Amino acid sequence: MTTPPPTSPAASTPAPSTLAPAGLRCAGLRCAHLVDPLGVSPGRVRLSWVLEGAGAGRAQRAYQVVLATDAARLARGEDLWWDSGRVESPASADIAYAGRPLAHGGRYAWKVRVWDQNGTAAGWSDPAWFEVELNQTDGWHASWIGLGRVRESAGPPAQTGPPDPVATALNPAPYLRRAFGVGQPVASARLYVTALGLYEARLNGHRVGDRFLTPGWTDYTQRIPYQTYDVTGLLAEGENVIGAILADGWYAGFFGYDAKHAGAHYGTAPELLAQLVITFRDGTGQEIVTDEQWQARLAAIRHADLLMGERHDLRLEPRGWDAPGFDAAGWRSVRCRGRDSRPLVADPGPPVRVTEEITPRSITRDADGRHIIDLGQNLTGWLRIRVDGPPGASVRVRHGEVLADDGSLYTENLRTARQTDEFITGGGPEVLEPRFTLHGFRYAEITKYPGDLDAADVVARVVHSDIAAAGSFGSSEEWLDRLFRNIDWGQRGNFISVPTDCPQRDERLGWLGDAQIFARTACYNRDVAAFFGKWLDDVADAQLPSGAFTDVAPRLNLAGAGAPAWGDAGVIVPWTVWKMYGDRGILQRHFGAMTAWMDFIERANPDYLRARELGNGYNDWLAPGADDTPRELLATAYWAHDAALMAEIADAIGRADDAAGYRALGSKIRAAFAEAFVAGDGQVASGTQTAYVLGLHMHLVPDELRASAADHLVAAIRRADWHLTTGFVGVGYILPVLSSTGHTGVAYRLLEQQSQPSWRYMVEAGATTIWERWDGWTTERGFQSAWMNSFNHYALGSVGEWLYRFLLGIDQEPDAAGFGQLLLRPHPGGRLSWARGSYRSVRGPISSGWERAVDRFTLRVELPPNVMASVCVPSDHAAEVRDATGSPPASVGSFPGIRGVQEAVFHVGPGTHEFSGPPVTDL
Ligand code: BGC
Repeated sequence: MTTPPPTSPAASTPAPSTLAPAGLRCAGLRCAHLVDPLGVSPGRVRLSWVLEGAGAGRAQRAYQVVLATDAARLARGEDLWWDSGRVESPASADIAYAGRPLAHGGRYAWKVRVWDQNGTAAGWSDPAWFEVELNQTDGWHASWIGLGRVRESAGPPAQTGPPDPVATALNPAPYLRRAFGVGQPVASARLYVTALGLYEARLNGHRVGDRFLTPGWTDYTQRIPYQTYDVTGLLAEGENVIGAILADGWYAGFFGYDAKHAGAHYGTAPELLAQLVITFRDGTGQEIVTDEQWQARLAAIRHADLLMGERHDLRLEPRGWDAPGFDAAGWRSVRCRGRDSRPLVADPGPPVRVTEEITPRSITRDADGRHIIDLGQNLTGWLRIRVDGPPGASVRVRHGEVLADDGSLYTENLRTARQTDEFITGGGPEVLEPRFTLHGFRYAEITKYPGDLDAADVVARVVHSDIAAAGSFGSSEEWLDRLFRNIDWGQRGNFISVPTDCPQRDERLGWLGDAQIFARTACYNRDVAAFFGKWLDDVADAQLPSGAFTDVAPRLNLAGAGAPAWGDAGVIVPWTVWKMYGDRGILQRHFGAMTAWMDFIERANPDYLRARELGNGYNDWLAPGADDTPRELLATAYWAHDAALMAEIADAIGRADDAAGYRALGSKIRAAFAEAFVAGDGQVASGTQTAYVLGLHMHLVPDELRASAADHLVAAIRRADWHLTTGFVGVGYILPVLSSTGHTGVAYRLLEQQSQPSWRYMVEAGATTIWERWDGWTTERGFQSAWMNSFNHYALGSVGEWLYRFLLGIDQEPDAAGFGQLLLRPHPGGRLSWARGSYRSVRGPISSGWERAVDRFTLRVELPPNVMASVCVPSDHAAEVRDATGSPPASVGSFPGIRGVQEAVFHVGPGTHEFSGPPVTDL
């Protein structure tokens, strides 16, 4: 057991409100959840800030936002495009722009100030800014260019034996360039660029920006995202060269599990669309667009594919091709075609970046000279390898998540994904690194590395959507801290433009079921507001004309629609984003899609039992043993849940009539559910853990039977010898349900269970991410069937929500959204002697830490300005609990659901607060 980090006595005393009101500062300004975005759709301009400054009782009573076309005008308060005036409101997020119409391509600076609870104004914030996207159709003057489908020289060198169908379906990556002159000093320049496929943009010998896998994945038949780069500093007077490398990516490459290719998804060959807009100091401008003036050729990248990997022949790299002074003789003219009406949208999501580099934990060499690298962490990305040798060496890198018993790389669970990079060296010191692929791996096997491979020559580059960490967790149990990290790593490895199921095998799809069960955990772990905002457009794009949400988004022909707990993500995820970030914009944008979904279900199920139109009906996917939860039960429970969430959603966006309609619908579904599935003694049909969990979580068991239904759930868990029997659907809610019905002790038993199925089993078996299956590997049997056995699937990591909301107690009042009104009710228990953690909310960082000793329970919480909380301290003698000033609780109540256990309730505001009192024997 580890000891808790020390709490300094000074820090544990609530800070007196000695700071002058001017100490309250507005910081962290964002637009559309992004910091100073270069491309935002005018309809998505919603602003937020956080308040900083120590001291108690610091609340925002009013705010004022002003916006101008540049920082100088903003500073002078001249020509304001928007002055909100003083708005009496504590809101600091989701402030919709309400000024003059914003111009496409325009740049705007804005700032904010607030008044505190005493009416004293704080100073203006530093300015932030954003740029509005180009007009989605008219703003573009560029044409699509590419080389068409090029067959020659693709794939590895000819081998004997039958042709390899994968190799023949892989394409070389075209390099494209255009030289142009710049005759005057440049004031500013923007590159608007996208591809059907993936692009890497180059300007005068430099890579443009630090994003990878651009433009990201959407359904390219519905909308094409693009990025905007500030390239002012990369241009010079005289000759300039703009270039790009294209790869197949999601557009024309392998992904999903049908061993297809060649246009099965979107198209057969990648294309580029780019518009470089230069503004000169004298106010005039110049535009360079993709058109027939560009030239192209094939070069070092013989193929590049998301699933299969890359092959580079570095001897073929045309050095200097993207810089002035290069002789482009022999380059071909490009194929050029005009744009169609598909909207080009500024990418609303966070960029995919290399977020970390990891050096090998060990490198071993087998008898055949192959190196096996162990990174100590299952991750998503690729290796960067330094080499210095003769030209023509053929270095091969294969990637896998685990090793087989004999120490070799285990790749059977990748199915048809090859995850293999090959490099033919050009000679001399070189860097071998792919950039248009993704591998899910902890281990790599390197063959034919010339010379000795040293740990300093290899680094793993971790690649994913750059979603900043928002949560932290630490406790007295090391295995639990590892579980927390595994959950986070699972999220990092799978949040790549869309939330995928897994990053390694031939699948990597945006499964809705996985996303909805994990959504709340995802928001606590990392800032995913913009990420989910982008993906929910994909979900809406994928919706069928019937109203059915699909199983995966972006939509593919290979999956269905309407599946319970999968399609329902179309309601659950927007609701979660609103709840966590207070974002009503997302609700407004998707309200139509959500109502179409609700109508789709109701049309098919007029008797309020959801038995029809269940699509692929995955039910409680991958429940250990038999999945005995009745399909209609699970489906109806989710429908009732949707109706309840829809009522809240409608209320949040001022649609009272719709809210009433959904409440009425909810009661009918609940009544039908109770009638069909709930017995008079609180038993729920089938008696599976998931049946009870859904009945209780979704409030389908009548109130008077809740306690007995919860007892039946506990009995079912006892019958399973204190193990879970839940699959993807039940797993996220089981611990929350146990805690909210007064069975936190049972929740801890499941959490701490060492034999499988359990989270701890995975951790103790050496997992560094969350497995797809509880028994992905067992001591007795070894690996599960290779057919479906990912070691990086986040769904079972949805237990993270309970760690934050219950174990640490960082939660909101039931009706609140956006973390202004907290309900901090930690649930200590199990073998934990202390735990502490934090969540960086839209209102600022919130932390909670508790410690249990034989005679004392101590809780320390910290709240940012403009946040109020009811803090509930569990205790056997709640009246004796005191805060750090010695004050007693505002009230004493019984701890929810548990007879004999009390809680001391304190109402507090911003600052640090410590409480202590007699401990609680058992929750
Ligand atoms: C995926 C899952 C997904 C499921 C649907 C699997 O192949 O990996 O995570 O939700 O299919 O049942």
